Amino acid sequence: MVEIHVVVLAAGKGTRMKSQVPKVLHGISGFSLIERVLRTADALAPASITLVVGHGADEVKGSLSSRANVQFVVQEQQLGTGHALLQARPLLEGKSGVVILLSGDVPLLTSNTLRSLIETHTQCEAAATVVTANMPRPFGYGRIVRTNGRIAKIVEERDASPAQKKITEINSGIYAFDLAPLFGALDSVGTSNNQGEYYLPDLVAIYRKQKRTVATWTVEHAEEIRGINSRTELAEVSAMVRQQKNEELMAAGVTLIDPATTYVDSDVVIGADTVIHPCVFLEGSTKIGAACEIHAGSRIVNSTLGDRVCVRNHTVVTDSTVEAGSFIGPFAHIRPGSQVGEGAHIGNFVELKKTSMGKGSKANHLAYLGDSTIGAATNVGAGTITCNYDGEKKHQTTIGDNVFVGSNSTLVAPITLADGAYIAAGSTVTKDVPAGALGVGRARQENKDGWREKRRQKPSA
Ligand code: UD1
Ligand code: CA
Repeated sequence: MVEIHVVVLAAGKGTRMKSQVPKVLHGISGFSLIERVLRTADALAPASITLVVGHGADEVKGSLSSRANVQFVVQEQQLGTGHALLQARPLLEGKSGVVILLSGDVPLLTSNTLRSLIETHTQCEAAATVVTANMPRPFGYGRIVRTNGRIAKIVEERDASPAQKKITEINSGIYAFDLAPLFGALDSVGTSNNQGEYYLPDLVAIYRKQKRTVATWTVEHAEEIRGINSRTELAEVSAMVRQQKNEELMAAGVTLIDPATTYVDSDVVIGADTVIHPCVFLEGSTKIGAACEIHAGSRIVNSTLGDRVCVRNHTVVTDSTVEAGSFIGPFAHIRPGSQVGEGAHIGNFVELKKTSMGKGSKANHLAYLGDSTIGAATNVGAGTITCNYDGEKKHQTTIGDNVFVGSNSTLVAPITLADGAYIAAGSTVTKDVPAGALGVGRARQENKDGWREKRRQKPSA
């Protein structure tokens, strides 16, 4: 097996994005463009991955800090794609094998295409193999100029003659290079072109002059090598990624009421017979069980839902766990670090933060439960508030099993309501309540008999 060295070019500014954010850090379905390209590279199990960074180098490096298998080189000035690849020379010179050159802004490329590229390159014993595609509207891409059927050179849009502009076979910007002659040949790439840049595609003509073999491999679906240069292209490619994910989900037995308005990030997992209603967003590392129902307008981020969970409309769940058979929403907000136990009910306008609700417990209306541990079979009445913040620190509320918290209770943390405690409605609770006890913390009501009649009879001043 030939040794594979991947080099990814990602130093360009991405001027047409009109963005403060480096182009390759723009995202599609939960992953940055560069992360998508690197995931494709990973699949080849390469001997090395080198990322050429420049514009926004620190941000790009920072976003990939958890990746141990990527080495970075900085291209201080972006003098062109040929110059960019030359920056990898110190890291690769003296090694042997094949360089797979990828572009940080081509996120749909598949590892199967790269395997075919490597196969063609090896079989042809080529010095370079260019991945090409046929595009009915090739505007903006480098064109593949052939003589007697063989690739002779690549001409950029801006340097192309009217006749060359009509060529529909384009350069994807993805190549395989034999490492041995590569950097020597790159030294002879010049800048006499419309943009005054060192063009990597010029290697094709250089190799042909040197009588080296240059091969091509044409992708079946041209969409796969679409580069992202503008926000419009970002949106178009995003839509393609979403559609593909949705088709995979439906093939696996998930019902999408309206795939066009269903937004599921690439790594999300959903069990069979789950029904997803329109305008639902499932993001990050979210996992949803089987036979769940997620109603319209909900957003679930980095969370795990068990089987048969019903998420009613306009509910937001973030970094939390919701166990089997529970009901949440409509209009519930489950904030990070929360856990909703099996068969629990979280109703409208209930907010949980770092709170666990035990099995079968209910908070059905208008409550804020923060930094709390709530046991099983407990009922939290409408309007209950855990006062977890004293202006300086957060404090914990502990509520046992089978507790009844009456409506409009104010629980001043730190506080514990032991198993079976009963809190009278409207209480402000500042002391722990023992097991089975009634806690009442409100002004005693006084009734004045006949008061209305007496007031009516009073002579007015
Ligand atoms: C390039 C190709 C073109 C091909 C197209 C496919 C050249 C000259 N042209 O054009 O033939 O059809 O890709 O998408 O190569 N980059 C650097 N440093 C630089 C310049 C660019 O790292 O100095 C990086 C960019 O960040 C980007 C990639 O190289 O990831 C491609 O550069 P870009 O400017 O987008 O090239 P295109 O004009 O699209
Ligand atoms: Ca590009």
